[in-house]
Amino acid sequence: MTADEQEKLFEVEIERLLPGGVGLAHAEGMTIFVALAAPGDFLRVKLDRVQGAVGFASIVEILKPSALRIEPPCPYFGRCGGCDFQQLTYETQLRTKVEMIRDCLHRIAKIEDPGEIQITPSANEWHYRARANWQVDPEARLLGYFERGSNRVCDVEYCAVLAPQLEQTLEDVRKDVATKSLRQLKHIDVVVGDEGMSVAPSIGGYSARTVSRRIAGEVYSFSADTFFQVNHNLLELLIAEAIGDAKGQKAIDLYCGAGLFTLPLARRFARVTGVEAHSRAVEFARRNVERAKLENVEIANLGVADWVKHYRSFEVLDFLLLDPPRVGCENAVIAGILAMRPRHIAYVSCDPATLARDLKKFIADDYLLDSVNAFDMFPQTHHVEVVARLTAKRQL
Ligand SMILES: C[S@@+](CC[C@H](N)C(=O)[O-])C[C@H]1O[C@@H](n2cnc3c(N)ncnc32)[C@H](O)[C@@H]1O
Repeated sequence: MTADEQEKLFEVEIERLLPGGVGLAHAEGMTIFVALAAPGDFLRVKLDRVQGAVGFASIVEILKPSALRIEPPCPYFGRCGGCDFQQLTYETQLRTKVEMIRDCLHRIAKIEDPGEIQITPSANEWHYRARANWQVDPEARLLGYFERGSNRVCDVEYCAVLAPQLEQTLEDVRKDVATKSLRQLKHIDVVVGDEGMSVAPSIGGYSARTVSRRIAGEVYSFSADTFFQVNHNLLELLIAEAIGDAKGQKAIDLYCGAGLFTLPLARRFARVTGVEAHSRAVEFARRNVERAKLENVEIANLGVADWVKHYRSFEVLDFLLLDPPRVGCENAVIAGILAMRPRHIAYVSCDPATLARDLKKFIADDYLLDSVNAFDMFPQTHHVEVVARLTAKRQL
């Protein structure tokens, strides 16, 4: 960026928010993405970075606030990289997330009309986060989240989206970070279960013990060092949306974690296979299946790309659920799924852009998009959970 570009201020109007959560504006032949903006804001902004004709900017002054803007209640908002939607009314957050999903489906997957996209709000707009990843700066003895756009730790004493049970944990862990020499420690994972907290690595009097949660009648054990969903209050509805009234002989649950979808699938299908790469998650999935006395489930401890490559079956596959990490699926995974030809697919995703990229490939190979619906698992941030359901137009 030139010195002139660094010093120059632009006056812009925010046209809308884009996937990724940034505001879109245009000025002096440039497209400008503005962080922490609201649609309709008039702002004075400065460029932080320039890439060709695109500038990435931050707000210097709010000249005229949008009617959709509210005062962000968290004292760390703006510096902490955790939340980027606190400046928006909750209604606007929900509407924006639906627009973001539509935008990705249209632009990336070329889907003109995905039908109505319903978004289920979170029961709690604040204090919903049952799982967190805290960053540590062992030299400066700080604990919190990364600052916006950097790897510096923003020291936080309080977090407005954290489940109330984790507030005391934050305080206890902070005491250890502030007083002990913890040179190797870079981050700490915490999760709440029905029995209390699990913290990895052990610190502040807590350990990475096993905890559990009862969701939609099933009991799931997990710990801080394995994946479990963030917003537990929405999980029953998420499972219902993903599985719907599906039933039959054979179902597959790819990226199954501790078995959140595997157990309910096993109540509806004669045989279910879960696939998961993380060994500890696999241990939990197997334990959860065993506790539920389900004898029709097999959990494979493998990367999904490897597993699909070796899949051989002459049996019709009724249903395949996949819930990959944010990066979505590797090409080999999509190719493997297409070769299996499941009658129905439920794709659970926390990134509308990679979801759209992958849906395009299913649709190009004769799958019909039945529905797309969303769950606001992450209020106060631009993140959103999406469930897309597909049906094969032709069978093998
Ligand atoms: C978004 S989580 C979903 C987990 C589970 N479906 C749930 O809802 O709790 C993604 C899971 O995929 C696993 N994973 C990531 N990459 C994988 C891969 N290449 N093969 C198999 N599992 C993978 C992670 O360990 C994690 O458990």
